[in-house]
Amino acid sequence: DWTPAHFVEDTVRELREKLGDDKVVLGLSGGVDSSVAAMLIHRAIGKNLHCIFVNNGLLRKNEFEQVLHSYKDLGLNVKGVDASKDFYVALAGKTDPEHKRKAIGRVFIEVFDKEAHRIKDVKWLGQGTIYPDVIESVSVKGPSATIKSHHNVGGLPEKMHLKVVEPLNTLFKDEVREVGRELGLPETILGRHPFPGPGLAIRILGEITEEKVRILQNVDDLFIKGLKKTGLYDEVWQAGAILLPVQSVGVMGDERTYENVVALRAVTSVDGMTADWAHLPYEFLADVSNDIINKVKGVNRVVYDISSKPPATIEWE
Ligand code: XMP
Repeated sequence: DWTPAHFVEDTVRELREKLGDDKVVLGLSGGVDSSVAAMLIHRAIGKNLHCIFVNNGLLRKNEFEQVLHSYKDLGLNVKGVDASKDFYVALAGKTDPEHKRKAIGRVFIEVFDKEAHRIKDVKWLGQGTIYPDVIESVSVKGPSATIKSHHNVGGLPEKMHLKVVEPLNTLFKDEVREVGRELGLPETILGRHPFPGPGLAIRILGEITEEKVRILQNVDDLFIKGLKKTGLYDEVWQAGAILLPVQSVGVMGDERTYENVVALRAVTSVDGMTADWAHLPYEFLADVSNDIINKVKGVNRVVYDISSKPPATIEWE
């Protein structure tokens, strides 16, 4: 019988046998999968697991600091690397979604590779690959563009000459959460919505600037906080905000404004393959819209995305 406790017990034993005294490096993303993978390997080999958490400058507001703290509290041997500037430089002038993804994947590999090589004699690369990633490792978005080549760092193991260890590659998402719970991961990590590897870069349509990232982080933060406060967060599969490359006219006091439009997106789904737009209460949408326009300078209009997947996708890019 499959139980999370048995899975943990068996996997930890297997990992100990396989890894012995070898060192493992693992990239944490803040998400459920990489966190659970790290906790499992940590239970097996302790400090020989070296975790790296890269700030690509495209995370949610304050996420890097908050998540880094919770990892440290869990006893993980984790190094936070703020490479935001490298990512912004690589993204400058890029507007095509797939060019953005490629640039982010490339910089991530460079940063991660450099950090990993500071660890003496590292032999293994730990990854949080789960079963659905294995079976749909090439899914296509738009003409000829692969999205889940996975977390856009498919070339990592080859480049680093490391053996790969993937303790979750037989599990589905809900099983991963149960295993995480068994390992004592906090609900704040276990209950997180999925978040794309390229982060806010694919939610800022058109060119990325630090200023736009800051605006979107503030909008997204108000939306997510609102969802949490009203208990709606756990009812949706994923939610976020999109900064549109559109200005529209508004009025503030007796001044005409000409500022940015943001779109809010929330969907219900089972696996992300198909999704319905979340029928959030009008009162909630009204409150969040007011909150955003009042508090976030540079935004004077909020719209809500009512498209389902297919034919739309969850992300706009
Ligand atoms: P779409 O937009 O294709 O998204 O409906 C389905 C799910 O995949 C996530 N997504 C990505 N995740 N790298 C990722 O790691 C990507 O390039 C990427 N693109 C989309 C999206 O957030 C949703 O959960």
